[in-house]
Amino acid sequence: MVSTDSSTQKILVTGGAGFIGSHTVVALVEAGFEPIIVDNFSNSEPAVLDGLRNILGRDVTCYHADCNDAAAMAEIFGKEQLTGVIHFAAYKAVGESVQKPLMYYRNNLDSTMLLLELMPQYNVQNLVFSSSCTVYGQPETLPVTEETPRLPAQSPYGNTKAICEDIIRDVVLAKMPIKAFSLRYFNPIGAHPSAQIGELPRGVPGNLVPYITQTAAGLREQLTVFGSDYNTPDGTCIRDFIHVMDLADAHVSALRLLNQTNTDNLYDVYNIGTGHGATVLELIRTFEEVNQIKVNYTIGPRRPGDVEQIYATVDKANQDMGWQTQRSLADALRDAWAWQKKLSN
Ligand code: NAD
Ligand code: WQD
Repeated sequence: MVSTDSSTQKILVTGGAGFIGSHTVVALVEAGFEPIIVDNFSNSEPAVLDGLRNILGRDVTCYHADCNDAAAMAEIFGKEQLTGVIHFAAYKAVGESVQKPLMYYRNNLDSTMLLLELMPQYNVQNLVFSSSCTVYGQPETLPVTEETPRLPAQSPYGNTKAICEDIIRDVVLAKMPIKAFSLRYFNPIGAHPSAQIGELPRGVPGNLVPYITQTAAGLREQLTVFGSDYNTPDGTCIRDFIHVMDLADAHVSALRLLNQTNTDNLYDVYNIGTGHGATVLELIRTFEEVNQIKVNYTIGPRRPGDVEQIYATVDKANQDMGWQTQRSLADALRDAWAWQKKLSN
């Protein structure tokens, strides 16, 4: 029987040096869990560990290893007495996944399957998997609930999320002693309010908020808003933007619920968003207001593959986990800007 006292629980955090993983490490420590990071730094920097130390006042154990390296992973499982795993490690660039599908399938699927093999071997029961709202495509009705049908993914990346969800479900259905939640994240933005950690996009950002902060910082000349002729109040796309610390907190709530659920195996999915949509122009305006800085932008053509609008119902996570968002869109955009200023300095 797993203890519900989180202070004794070591949680393997794959991809724990990445954007969402690093913020979740902070939330885990603050909740009394002991995170053990494994990351190969393919999309993050070891300096993230300094940021974590500055926030937490202590070091966090980090293994520099590849989650697909079976020997290295077995060694970590053998050495650490883990009670759970949060599996963030994955490649996540939608466009790149279209160019390099096998790289995406290998990394994202193999790492998930290896964890599912190792967990029962080492008596580790709890798994939280990073899924994505991308599995819904453009839903016919909004907001999306967990019952909203998944649609065929628009990209190999999206496929990896849907396939990993199914692999985990099938392993649980096969009565393996695993309790797992797939969390379907909507659009995480922002940074830790200390500006010690945040998002570190490599090259030209594909996502909206890093593009905005880099434009405001003068690193990019102009933001292009992709399309203003959508069927939305101001013609720009609608997304459910969630503060990354609220998303981090959801992982703590998910682990607590897994601990409390007294069963040998379990699989469920949860939407993790705010329950509210904002348009791209609303987000730009909020950024300008809260930070008192102008964003140079122009309206351009639609970006191929973009869904027009998507936002979540998060009632299930509210009810089952007792989790709720605490931070506003303005909070997230203020924290994102503070992080960008720190990076620029
Ligand atoms: P990220 O790229 O910042 O973090 C992923 C981390 O995993 C990086 O530190 C990278 O170095 C590491 N990694 C990748 N492959 C690895 C491997 N084989 N072995 C060890 N480490 C490896 O991404 P993120 O934004 O923090 O996303 C985390 C997870 O959440 C991913 O699974 C992603 O698909 C999912 N997700 C992200 C978003 C988003 O908008 N950021 C939305 C929905 C879902
Ligand atoms: C948001 C809105 C753009 C950049 C992506 C992944 C998805 C999930 C979340 C992982 C859209 C507009 C953007 C710019 C713009 N990730 N935009 N100008 O597309 O909702 O989702 O991240 O699972 O799988 O696809 O996020 O930040 O790229 O775009 O106008 O320079 O901002 O058109 O409407 P998206 P995003």
